[in-house]
Amino acid sequence: MNILHLDCSPRGQDSESRRLSHRIVEHLRRQAPAALLVRRAIGDGGLAHIDANYALGQHSATAEVAPRGAVATSDALIEELEKADVVVIGTPMHNLSLPSVLKAWIDHVVRARRTFRMTPEGKVGMLRDRPVFIAIASGGRFSGERARQPDFLTPYLRAILGSIGLTELHFFSVQGTGLGEAAVAEARSAADLALAAHFAN
Ligand SMILES: Cc1cc2nc3c(=O)[nH]c(=O)nc-3n(C[C@H](O)[C@H](O)[C@H](O)COP(=O)(O)O)c2cc1C
Repeated sequence: MNILHLDCSPRGQDSESRRLSHRIVEHLRRQAPAALLVRRAIGDGGLAHIDANYALGQHSATAEVAPRGAVATSDALIEELEKADVVVIGTPMHNLSLPSVLKAWIDHVVRARRTFRMTPEGKVGMLRDRPVFIAIASGGRFSGERARQPDFLTPYLRAILGSIGLTELHFFSVQGTGLGEAAVAEARSAADLALAAHFAN
């Protein structure tokens, strides 16, 4: 089994989403000890945004685009994604949605005629479906009765990953990292319990 672990927080070892996504990787490795882990940390902003050459390829079905710059990066990131049997994404909520580094990754992997094709009915995914675990950390709460903000992160990820064929999404979260130690402890144990229940079978 191949696991792709995408880590999107800029906060390194202090990151709560990284902690939670590591927990998920641990569960997966317990189930499949021989699993190969590929870790891609993009939280530092090292992944460049897409360029003009890439945009031309998205824009026109007939344009010849050279395999350089963002097209080459996209080729590599899509191959990495295709090889993965399971994907684990650790991500913060930033401004009610996804951090721009994760959006940059999405811009590279959601690619016309490569990971989706356009039909009169809309986009049709071209990737084999596989489990995608998404570990979210947020300063406030975005779901449940105590939520005080809208959530544009989980519906967006469902829509965009679904458009390339990834529909088996499993969300876990530690919400309220900015609400004090007690809130963080409560959110961590709730997340750990949810994970244990998920991986119990
Ligand atoms: C630029 C930025 C925007 C943020 N926007 C939100 C937000 O809209 N809602 C929220 O609950 N927390 C927000 N936060 C707080 C983070 O979600 C929180 O610190 C979380 O723990 C970050 O995940 P990490 O620990 O994995 O880095 C924001 C943080 C930053 C740096």
